[in-house]
Amino acid sequence: MDISKWKRKNLLGIEELTTEEILKILEVAKFFKKTLGKNSQGKSHLKGKRIVNLFMEPSTRTRIAFEIAAKSLHADVISVAEQSSSLTKGETLRDTAMNIQALGADAIVIRHSSPGSPLFLSRLVDVPIINAGDGAHEHPSQALLDLYTLRERLGSLNGKKITILGDILFSRVARSNFWTLTKMGAEVTFAGPSTLVPKQFETMGAKVCHNLRNALKDADAVMLLRIQHERQSSSHFPSLSEYTNIFGLNKDRKKWLKKEALILHPGPVNRGVELDSELTDSSQSVILEQVENGIAVRMAILYLCTNFVSL
Ligand code: CP
Repeated sequence: MDISKWKRKNLLGIEELTTEEILKILEVAKFFKKTLGKNSQGKSHLKGKRIVNLFMEPSTRTRIAFEIAAKSLHADVISVAEQSSSLTKGETLRDTAMNIQALGADAIVIRHSSPGSPLFLSRLVDVPIINAGDGAHEHPSQALLDLYTLRERLGSLNGKKITILGDILFSRVARSNFWTLTKMGAEVTFAGPSTLVPKQFETMGAKVCHNLRNALKDADAVMLLRIQHERQSSSHFPSLSEYTNIFGLNKDRKKWLKKEALILHPGPVNRGVELDSELTDSSQSVILEQVENGIAVRMAILYLCTNFVSL
């Protein structure tokens, strides 16, 4: 595993990554995946390093996967939630990060509701900053684990058709996935109601589709997204049940998909809203494979970013 040419200290988003960098992360993840397993002792690539997880928004998968990833590489991990930090006493994010650095952190993994907050911190501190989701901007580790899962199942994504269905407007997952998928040569369709999937997304290079049947029919994989109420100040459709009636994926509509099409979801799934329970648990669903791959992918991210070659 040659990482001698890795020059990126921070992982702020996918848009700025080259195809070669994305492929290097996946190659390192593949190496680490082989070392994982219930009885594995892990690898000591991060022994002696301190990784601080600073999560200012709720998380199950991302926070736990970053913790397991760091521990599997024998790093010390400290996880901080907003409610238990001095941010609640008026300390700024800047001062919080400066203090975490002074306490000897070797990397900070941050989730924050403000787009650009990881970039902001990366200009203030010397340690690597890893974006674990910033508002509706990017969620790079999610897109990388999605890509890893898709490539395991489909091989090369060149020319493959991937539909991302749901609340695109407020989704950092959709944006990061758009960048990974198009950099790998896939064709991305954003689908959902016009209020959540405005035509302007076509200027990025995505196809936009407001008809569920058309959005599903040629897809090699469909990625469902939940409605992100936490980022919406007003309603973008009349009611949740009407959204489900028109855009929910259920077993009747499964016939619009190719038989071998994969079903992905970054989680958390709102069962019965964007995706029904039967499909969530079906053999076409790779949702738990995505979660599992999140560990190896985050091991790769932590290892590469803490071992970057400075220019
Ligand atoms: N996919 C994802 O980011 O899930 P969590 O919010 O549980 O971390």
